[in-house]
Amino acid sequence: MNYLNIEKKTLNKVAESLNLLLADYQIYYQNLRRYHWHVQGVNFFDLHVKFEELYTSAQLVIDELAERILTIRFKPMATLKEYLELANVKEIHAEKDSEMVSAILDNHKIIINQMRTVLENAAECEDEGTTDLVASLLSALEKSSWMLDAWNTKS
Ligand SMILES: [Fe+2]
Repeated sequence: MNYLNIEKKTLNKVAESLNLLLADYQIYYQNLRRYHWHVQGVNFFDLHVKFEELYTSAQLVIDELAERILTIRFKPMATLKEYLELANVKEIHAEKDSEMVSAILDNHKIIINQMRTVLENAAECEDEGTTDLVASLLSALEKSSWMLDAWNTKS
């Protein structure tokens, strides 16, 4: 049943860009887990908790994205191999706490970029459902970037 009332072939680009966003999120999620486990030093308690908070929300976003792809009648990428091959976000082996925060900010930049691509594609075919979802994820990520940047600014 075509409950979307949008031509499937026009949604190809939306699904493709959502899948790349999903791949980016999976690598981002794993970077956060790594930092949650590997963080050391005087900021341990703050950052250990902050990274957990971030990966917990990333995990929810991952499911939202995959289910949006299904909702528009495409298949979400679902193997680590594909994620690693296709994601623009890369695994970053940061050691120091400020390097970890900078790496997360870099990940956010790439993800926000990909979100804008999704939004452009969704706007083209009037896929308001995707626009609504991704626009709200985008502003949340921007806010989180502001906070991490504030933490990382030397006063
Ligand atoms: Fe933990």
